[in-house]
Amino acid sequence: MPSKQVFETKDEALYTTSNGAPVKEPYAAEKIGFNGPLLLQDFHHIDLLAHFDRERIPERVVHAKAAGAHGYFEVTHDISDITCAALFNKVGNKARVTARFSTVGGESGSADTARDPRGFALKIRTEEGNLDWVFNNTPVFFIRDPAKFPHFIHTQKRDPQTHLKDADMFWDYLSQNPESIHQVMILFSDRGTPDGYHQMNGYSGHTFKFVNDKGDWWYTQIHFIADKGFKSLDNETAGRLAGENPDYGIQAMFEAIDSGNFPSWTVYVQTMTPAQAEKFRYSVLDLTKVWPHSEFPLRPIGKMVLDENPANYFAEIEQAAFSPSHIVPGIEPSADPVLQSRFFSYPDTHRHRLGPNYQQLPVNAPIVPVANFQRDGYMAFNNQGARPNYQSSISPLKYKAKPYSTAQHETWVGNSIAFLSEITELDFEQPRALWQKVLDDTQKAHLVHNVAVHLVNAKSAEVKARQLSVFAAVDQDLSDRIAKAIGAPTVKPLKVKPASEAIPFKTNIGLAQKF
Ligand code: NDP
Ligand code: HEM
Repeated sequence: MPSKQVFETKDEALYTTSNGAPVKEPYAAEKIGFNGPLLLQDFHHIDLLAHFDRERIPERVVHAKAAGAHGYFEVTHDISDITCAALFNKVGNKARVTARFSTVGGESGSADTARDPRGFALKIRTEEGNLDWVFNNTPVFFIRDPAKFPHFIHTQKRDPQTHLKDADMFWDYLSQNPESIHQVMILFSDRGTPDGYHQMNGYSGHTFKFVNDKGDWWYTQIHFIADKGFKSLDNETAGRLAGENPDYGIQAMFEAIDSGNFPSWTVYVQTMTPAQAEKFRYSVLDLTKVWPHSEFPLRPIGKMVLDENPANYFAEIEQAAFSPSHIVPGIEPSADPVLQSRFFSYPDTHRHRLGPNYQQLPVNAPIVPVANFQRDGYMAFNNQGARPNYQSSISPLKYKAKPYSTAQHETWVGNSIAFLSEITELDFEQPRALWQKVLDDTQKAHLVHNVAVHLVNAKSAEVKARQLSVFAAVDQDLSDRIAKAIGAPTVKPLKVKPASEAIPFKTNIGLAQKF
């Protein structure tokens, strides 16, 4: 990080005021005589207090607690057939990366081992600008309609009156919005309490588009698979560590990197043509679904290694501003409405959290020169010098158009609101596969236990019964085992429409004919 070089001689540093003047007595305030009062002329003392008063910036509204490190992304396989992104144009290309791994719901002092999804945010510094991959450690999410996001998040945070986390609020939301069940199953499996931040997978969750140099494009999902495996903690160990060492995850990653035991991931892409998407059983824009490996195999593309701890956490990790909308030519968003909303929300919150020039902070600044017509505002460190502040005919900025997907695939026909909110049997197939085919007997027992110790805290019998009916729609045995564990009556499955009544993925046929 550029900021580090300035401070490399920290041991020999001379104590100065913020304007760089030597301080004659660091531990004394200027005053009249022995007892004072203090003097207004004492810039060192007043500046010290005034700056201290302003040390805190808003913490992230979600993902406030985190660990971070730097490293590199290396391209290991040629994928120039599916993307024209310069990063991927040659095997061996390397880019420096800043990674920030976080819990979601807790405040910045909360426990690292909480049962929560983990953020998996990367800033990959390419010669075509920064590519931010702002992923989670789960391949799916709780919602597919962004209108639900603030409601959902509020229910996972504190009650407005008691200021306590509230199991009724938590399960009330989830049981009323059963498209969350796939993510709930993963969250309450052992993967919901990863062993540290550095031994877990990362998934795009969303569908993106990769575009090649001819303008042809593919739907894609990206997977970062931890080379040492996805390591988890059991519920009780996670709970114990939350009390004994709330910073367990930060410490484990820092120490691993410090001792040269660098965390690494192998990176894969799944691809789907628009024509395949039309025949796919699920909507590619539905964030609650995965693409089965058997139909859409993982294709290796690269590796990521984290090999450098931050020299200054605040400057290099807290001030990092990731956004799914920081993308580069050759990679595009799909029409997934949650992704589209995220494109707005992140830069919006960065302008609030860090100011309008957040991209000029050293950790966020691209490694390539930025040339545009944004000027001024607070903390304009690099204000583009003497360059004109409009598109001048005398020295116009040039542009370099790279191929992009010229035609849209996802033109929705019909009522998209109904589609997004409708629950059908389709929503239970993948959670059922997870329960029946992926989890072994021990993992099943853990899932039942992990749900039970949380759901038992809900006071409302109605909320408990409704959530049990959602579990029963996945698998009756799963629901009955949880009911038994919490001493509640067994319930029948939630009634849902058959899969045949799900509104299919509608498109305009135009571009799909290319394939
Ligand atoms: P596969 O048998 O090919 O995939 C199963 C995958 O499940 C594994 O590869 C592993 O993903 C993941 N997995 C293993 N243990 C757990 C766990 N405790 N919690 C969550 N995921 C776990 O079958 P499919 O591709 O058809 O998927 C079957 C089900 O597996 C899905 O419905 C979904 O619930 C889950 N899954 C699927 C993923 C996908 O992208 N297809 C990704 C992750 C989970 P990994 O190799 O990524 O660690
Ligand atoms: C952080 C909004 C869904 C991954 C954040 C932040 C906001 C936000 C406002 C704080 C950013 C900051 O202060 O720097 C939203 C909205 C969503 C949504 C509105 C849906 C409508 C998702 C999904 C994922 C995700 C689906 C993953 C697939 C992350 C990560 C961070 C984050 C990893 C932390 C980034 C960091 O480390 O700085 N989100 N989010 N979010 N979000 Fe989301």
